[in-house]
Amino acid sequence: MRSSFALGILASALALTASAFDCKKAQVAGHTYDLSPLSREITLESNATTPPTLTSTRYVLNPCAPLKAEPDSVPEIDRCPNGAWACRLVTNFKKDEKPRITEVNAVAGKSSKDEPVLEAKTSGSDKPSEFHWIMKGAEVEKTVWSTDIKFVCNKSAKDQDLPTVVGFKDGVLSLEWAVPAACALGGGGDEKPPSDGDKEKKPVESSGGGFFSTMFSLFVVISALYLVLGVMYNYLIVRATGLDLIPNRAFWREFPYLCSDFTQHVWGMVNGRRRGGYSVV
Ligand SMILES: *[C@@H]1O[C@H](CO)[C@@H](O)[C@H](O)[C@H]1NC(C)=O
Ligand SMILES: *[C@@H]1O[C@H](CO)[C@@H](O)[C@H](O)[C@H]1NC(C)=O
Repeated sequence: MRSSFALGILASALALTASAFDCKKAQVAGHTYDLSPLSREITLESNATTPPTLTSTRYVLNPCAPLKAEPDSVPEIDRCPNGAWACRLVTNFKKDEKPRITEVNAVAGKSSKDEPVLEAKTSGSDKPSEFHWIMKGAEVEKTVWSTDIKFVCNKSAKDQDLPTVVGFKDGVLSLEWAVPAACALGGGGDEKPPSDGDKEKKPVESSGGGFFSTMFSLFVVISALYLVLGVMYNYLIVRATGLDLIPNRAFWREFPYLCSDFTQHVWGMVNGRRRGGYSVV
């Protein structure tokens, strides 16, 4: 009973570290993007005459979440697989006959655990105005399908604008999406980067975000573990009660003073070498 409670806390602490894909704070090479204005299911359709029929190819996708389950009115065999973020459907229309779905499969996402990967392919640029949203999908005829959305920062476009289909080749659906949401937050895409003597700053910046958020998550987990194990130890072995359950209580009483000492120390150091530039160590 007690140990299952502790396990529960541990599990939720660990869940914090699992980096769930967050469209509101998408991280690419140290820059943050808010893709949430694009969070909706869009449909891209193109028709081709294929005498004596007409063939319609549709792509349904949401860059921020898996597609919603289709209604029961759609026969199971015609539905996109569960967990798909992007789906490809081919429908064949023949005069006077009921349209027939001839292909339906996931071009992105095939289980609820799948998440898109964001990567900047333009290396060396300080403010990437382009990045890729990549996600694997179903395997068809020994080829793993995937979707590759190239996001391009364009502040004169609108977030309601649809992506263009570049092609579907060798199982890779390539899209291009020029929207304001693809512009990095903080400073904006068309602003000049800070310019004075920051040569050594760039590499630190471009890998900073991910590292610090990982360290922070790790810190949270370790603190939670420490607290849980400490309380369990005090309760079960020392048989303490009340406030004495808190591990190392004497230390925590001192903690505010330690913090203020530390802050003063760091403040003194920073003031002393401010002109030397911020070299993060
Ligand atoms: C494609 O053809 C279908 C069936 O005729 C039609 O319902 C649909 O609107 C067409 N879509 C486009 C984009 O032309
Ligand atoms: C940005 O979007 C606007 C409006 O859609 C378009 O006219 C313009 O050509 C685009 N700019 C670039 C650089 O693609």
